[in-house]
Amino acid sequence: MQDCVVCVVGLSNNEKEPFPTRPGVGKSCFCFRFAYPGFDGYIDTHPSLLALHEFENPVINGSHFLYWGSPLKMFPSKGGEVSIRFHLLEQTVFYQDITSYPFNSVTKPDNVDHYIRRMIGPIESAGKHSYYSRDDICTTGQYTRFQYPTNLTKKPRGFVVVFDVSLADMELEMQCKRVEPILQYLCKNKKKVVIAVTKRDSHKIMSLQQAHELHKKFHVPLIETSARDDLNIEEVFRVLAKQLLSKKVPGLSDQIQKYDEAARHNLIQRGSAKRSFVSYLKKRITNSSETVASISYNEEFKECKRWIGQHSCSRLFAQHALELYNTKVDTYAGVVNDPIMRREFLEDYVDSRFDLDNHKIELRR
Ligand code: GTP
Ligand code: MG
Repeated sequence: MQDCVVCVVGLSNNEKEPFPTRPGVGKSCFCFRFAYPGFDGYIDTHPSLLALHEFENPVINGSHFLYWGSPLKMFPSKGGEVSIRFHLLEQTVFYQDITSYPFNSVTKPDNVDHYIRRMIGPIESAGKHSYYSRDDICTTGQYTRFQYPTNLTKKPRGFVVVFDVSLADMELEMQCKRVEPILQYLCKNKKKVVIAVTKRDSHKIMSLQQAHELHKKFHVPLIETSARDDLNIEEVFRVLAKQLLSKKVPGLSDQIQKYDEAARHNLIQRGSAKRSFVSYLKKRITNSSETVASISYNEEFKECKRWIGQHSCSRLFAQHALELYNTKVDTYAGVVNDPIMRREFLEDYVDSRFDLDNHKIELRR
């Protein structure tokens, strides 16, 4: 097993400016998707405006970066599967809620130069804990998952430079001004770099063009991603690992999947997982008194949940159980010819067994 450090970088604001009112460029959401994969549980709110005691909490540990854990990922390669552990860091800027300016900004202004020095410098932070969500910071110790590993400074380190393609006009221009010096420095110093386009699902055409200009100018791989739609995130890490660990994992592919291709692949996988699950239900679940809990260890269910989530799976199950029950109701004298009575029967049945507050079931009459 190989391991490396990945720093996800990109400033969401201009030098020495107060906390930005617009959303960040997407570093945290990108990291979240990689560290905590799966359809359910995606959290997209990771604020960088903190109270002093939160900045000093072990999750932040008084430093302007987040440790997202060290996920182990398997990739296909020519010599069989390879496993790589990624120590995942997000280099950001934390702002103090009282002043709206970065913590420690008097002694160390958080301009681009300082940011670059920080991301290539020592990254030890004894006692730091991993981050999962804002709750980790507010509730000391209760949610923290992993201790920060020691000696990370000595490990191979690669950089994911984030470029938000949902920005336009002035904001786009300012982003280019912040990203260019970072890329310039990293390339000049022969660091391993990948550009990750973020928010591709809401892209502006000019912004996407700018990202590709940077890719051509600096000759670094570019991968278009969406954390919201969970597209192409792992690709970034594979391509970076290929550069960082080329001698140790020579068989790893550095092919880049196009965004549209990733979206199509995702759609096909979802459709296929759904069809297998429905087919399993039709074959195996013949009694309407079965519950979703009874199939929670089933492989078709787990695969389907991975692609469309627990909620949609429960809905498919509910529809199937309702079909069965509806057929059963046909045999009850009096109910079959009375649509109101049938509806009440079916609705009572659904209410008694599923939490369907948020979705509607089509009742066959
Ligand atoms: P700072 O650390 O404060 O610099 O911000 P950041 O770069 O970590 O940005 P963050 O990941 O917190 O994203 C900011 C906001 O952008 C999120 O709250 C989401 O609303 C939005 N966002 C992030 N990723 C995506 C994406 O893939 N698609 C869309 N449409 N929105 C996204
Ligand atoms: Mg962040």
